[in-house]
Amino acid sequence: MRLKSALALLCLAVPVGFLGASRPVTAAAPCTWMDTAKTPDQRAQELLAAMSLDEKITMVHGNGDIFVYYGMAGHIPANAALCIPDLTLNDGPAGVGDGQTNQTAFPSPILRAATWDTALERRFGDALGWESWHKGVGVMLAPNLNLARVPMNGRNFEAFGEDPYLSGWTAAAEIQGIQQNNVIATAKHYAENSQETNRNTISEDVDPRTFHELEGQAFEIALKQGKPGSVMCAYNLVNGAWACENPELLTTLLKQEYGFDGFVMSDWGATHSTVPSANAGLDMEMFDGTYFGVPLKQAVQDGTVPLSRLNDMVLRILRAMFRVGVFDRPPAPEPDAYAADVATPAHTALARELAEQGTVLLKNDGPILPLTGLGKTIAVIGQPAGPDGAPLVYGGGGSSHIPEAGFYPYVVSPLQGITQRGLANGDKVVYADGSVTADAVTAATAADVALVFVNDAEGEGSDRSSLKLQGGSCSLLVCTYSPVDQDNLVASVAAANPRTVVVLNTGAPVLMPWADRVPAIVEAWYPGIEDGNAIASVLFGDVNPSGKLPQTFPKSQADLPTQTPEQYPGVDGHAVYSEGLEVGYRWYDANGVAPLFAFGHGLSYTTFGYSGLSVKKLTGGNVSVTFTLKNTGMRAGAEVAQVYVGDPPASGEPPKQLKGYRKVFLQPGQSSQVTVTLDPRAFAYWNNSWLIGGGTYTILVGSSSRDIRLQGTIGLAKKTLGP
Ligand code: BGC
Repeated sequence: MRLKSALALLCLAVPVGFLGASRPVTAAAPCTWMDTAKTPDQRAQELLAAMSLDEKITMVHGNGDIFVYYGMAGHIPANAALCIPDLTLNDGPAGVGDGQTNQTAFPSPILRAATWDTALERRFGDALGWESWHKGVGVMLAPNLNLARVPMNGRNFEAFGEDPYLSGWTAAAEIQGIQQNNVIATAKHYAENSQETNRNTISEDVDPRTFHELEGQAFEIALKQGKPGSVMCAYNLVNGAWACENPELLTTLLKQEYGFDGFVMSDWGATHSTVPSANAGLDMEMFDGTYFGVPLKQAVQDGTVPLSRLNDMVLRILRAMFRVGVFDRPPAPEPDAYAADVATPAHTALARELAEQGTVLLKNDGPILPLTGLGKTIAVIGQPAGPDGAPLVYGGGGSSHIPEAGFYPYVVSPLQGITQRGLANGDKVVYADGSVTADAVTAATAADVALVFVNDAEGEGSDRSSLKLQGGSCSLLVCTYSPVDQDNLVASVAAANPRTVVVLNTGAPVLMPWADRVPAIVEAWYPGIEDGNAIASVLFGDVNPSGKLPQTFPKSQADLPTQTPEQYPGVDGHAVYSEGLEVGYRWYDANGVAPLFAFGHGLSYTTFGYSGLSVKKLTGGNVSVTFTLKNTGMRAGAEVAQVYVGDPPASGEPPKQLKGYRKVFLQPGQSSQVTVTLDPRAFAYWNNSWLIGGGTYTILVGSSSRDIRLQGTIGLAKKTLGP
């Protein structure tokens, strides 16, 4: 990561794309495997049979020219004689990143999870895949599926929250969208990269049941429904063995149990050996050939890595490339791709739509929102509001970072967006950056309404020390922190103006000691390029908020599921998952701890009624859950109806678990009958295989995990479902 970071810096300082054009892919001899009438597997087998040992070895590791080859994070050079195109790899989960420029800074994954809208996430994936292809990228290093076991995780913003079902289906939709552009998607970081603290040395010790039911299940859904071409193994160890040389993780679980037929690449520098890694199931070393270059060739020659294993590695890579279309439609050629501006108006509009849909209205007493009336004075307060938009406002730090000013087309700051939107109402907007509390108080006192923007600084490479609000910003390389005491700022503004709205630009839960003293709180996350326009739409009511939390917001640090140092950050190199299944809301429910804002929570400017629950067994073992959802308020809006299952108490499962959801848009007074079908796995737990324990299962339908509106039961017989 250090080397990578240094090179990245170099690259950003001196944009590259100068070290050689991409090689034309022309065959000396006919490449029979270019016949698209053959299956991807046949084509890969044919090509494999034509490859020499050296050519195979070249295919299984990056060539080390990280960031040098047109700003790519990884690169495997083309082999013109064999019609193999360059394989170019780049981040990441919030837009095309690393050394690229002129791309769309999309909202962070945690925001997109908060839309609970897989159709929208698929459109995001499609846009990301399109931008990737046009920037010359063949493998997109996204999505990130690590579950939010520890909300202080510096990469919390980069993934989809705490629930495996929501994470898995969101990821699957994104993968499908990316791959429809002939760009391979990568499910990462397999597995349990749940903290950045000591990520290169920590062993995440997790029992099989917890693994299967939580993070394993997220990956399983993403792999089976999304079919990504690649999976990235993580930096950390799992149960004492490096994730990238862990036969149980890579071969037994991933390739055999989950049936993954693509290839496993290591995270950048996460390969630690040649023979153990290759034999454990690692298929590609990134970003260079330290272990899978000359040493792997030697190991194959002396038989410590069987040739059949090397062939399997290459076959998996080629098959994924054929299946997704990298051979038939390789990414746009360099150097033009490197220079291309891919932030199309359609994509910036999509970035805005995503941000509007993922913004969560946490609290709205009065209701004070939306902002109505003409000729108001609005005080906009806080550094994250602008005027230029601090980098962190739109995204987090590390490999998923979209470069700073000068590289991206623009970012609309909240101050710009609110000022612009306020003009239509004849509103006057004043700004105080909050660095001097007295100035903020003066502005708030003189205003009709005060909008306070606060943020947290999250980035790859380090965790937050606590959930206390700590402003600042993170770039690709480092986080810098602001001296402003944001809790004090909010409390002071709230004391000066009872009409205070707090807007959070955070990538994760934060503590809100002032929550009772402000009438409204909005979680806007890291909203990307259209930040200010999106938040203005929601605050002024042009868009009715419908986002729901993908993660629990606790009342205090002491309420977190990971309380002991053994659990987090770990002792003697081990972080022990002794909380078992009680991650996120599962913990709060099981232990009777009231959260500040529950998993699934999110208000609207309208209201919704739930009625008429019917739960029925279908032939084949599925269960249908049907109910009527009605918009009982005065405005059009969308509700995310959530279906949880409570297993019989003897099962040892948490009280309720999300097993289905549906986002429904309704006009005022309109009703819709909603059906969510649960498959047998919705009722199963893991004990060496998936089992339905049998008994009476509770079906809970609601507006959040703590706002259950309808409840029914279904009796099921004991049954073994298999792996
Ligand atoms: C990150 C990955 C990323 C890779 C390549 C690593 O530091 O953990 O998520 O894809 O770098 O940039």
